[in-house]
Amino acid sequence: MFTPGPILGIETSCDETAAAVASPDGRILSNIIFSQTLHAAYGGVVPELASREHSGRLPAIVTEALSAAPIGWGDLAGIAVTAGPGLVGCLLVGVAYARAAARARGIPLIGVNHLEGHAHTPALTDPELGYPQLVLIVSGGHTSLVMVEAPGQFQCLGRTRDDAAGECFDKVGKLLGFDYPAGPAIDRAGEDGAANAVAFPKTRFEGQGYDFSFSGIKTAAALDWDKRQRGLLPAVEMKDWVASFEQTIVDSLTQNLFRAADDQSIPTVALAGGVARNRRLRRVVTAWAERTGRHAIVPPPEWCADNAAMIAAVGSYRWQPDSGDAPLIDAVPNWGLGEPPPWMVTT
Ligand code: KG4
Ligand code: ZN
Repeated sequence: MFTPGPILGIETSCDETAAAVASPDGRILSNIIFSQTLHAAYGGVVPELASREHSGRLPAIVTEALSAAPIGWGDLAGIAVTAGPGLVGCLLVGVAYARAAARARGIPLIGVNHLEGHAHTPALTDPELGYPQLVLIVSGGHTSLVMVEAPGQFQCLGRTRDDAAGECFDKVGKLLGFDYPAGPAIDRAGEDGAANAVAFPKTRFEGQGYDFSFSGIKTAAALDWDKRQRGLLPAVEMKDWVASFEQTIVDSLTQNLFRAADDQSIPTVALAGGVARNRRLRRVVTAWAERTGRHAIVPPPEWCADNAAMIAAVGSYRWQPDSGDAPLIDAVPNWGLGEPPPWMVTT
């Protein structure tokens, strides 16, 4: 379906301040991302600093997205904003801004689930992609295996029971001395390493489900690293240790992805979220698809991390004309994928 004009997307759920514009047929006309760097000094995202940074930066980022499109405020048919899940103070900045702007222009406001945005990234990458798609969403806060049956229709097949994969990269990377977020540094450090140098344990649950767990790997890696520093285990080259750790995470992610693709006979698998930038993960998924005759989508790196392009695109297919009594969209920090948002629930 075509919207009557472009849609502005706004994303402020964590530490990226982002705005993008989608055309009436859902193509991305501009995509501006400001990644907050001030958190590196603290070893993780500081929510209060993140929301202050969002409120300072968002107006200029939106102006930049509009002029890069290039369109003006008067051309917009609607505004889509991430309403959850995420850090409540951060979400509130985007939602308050979007609510005010939509009210001022008299155009519809669409509250978008951040995970739906990630789940839609493969379709955004390749608009010809068929359904269903098996999408592995891997980021600093989420690890979920989602069957996307059509735009906006999902079935969550598995999720992490404890840490997210990106969180595991970030926390172990911190022990190795890498700045937050440590995923990119781990990716580089393990580039030429031997992935079988150290055997880390992998978690596997009994039964047929597709849940993940990363806290055991995190603890095992931390203890192993500490023992090697103290000479209680033989020394291993840094690049080999990192490659082995990285491979353990990649294997834990892909074993469920590949098993689900086989069990459910789904020919199209895709990666989404910040950890989908990991080159080892991308290589393993691409090679498996070539070997098994599947179709694998690994979106361009700038669409893997948090961005507003995915929010604008979801806004395009969820757009509806403003009936004049639209419910009040608000921040929903724990909004699960596929759950109706509070403003849609009628009792
Ligand atoms: O999707 P995202 O930008 O934000 C969240 O919603 O969390 O993901 C950020 C996560 C961080 O944990 C970061 O370390 C990880 O993505 N990451 C990577 C790589 N690039 C980013 N992890 C492994 N390898 C990478 N190349
Ligand atoms: Zn995300």
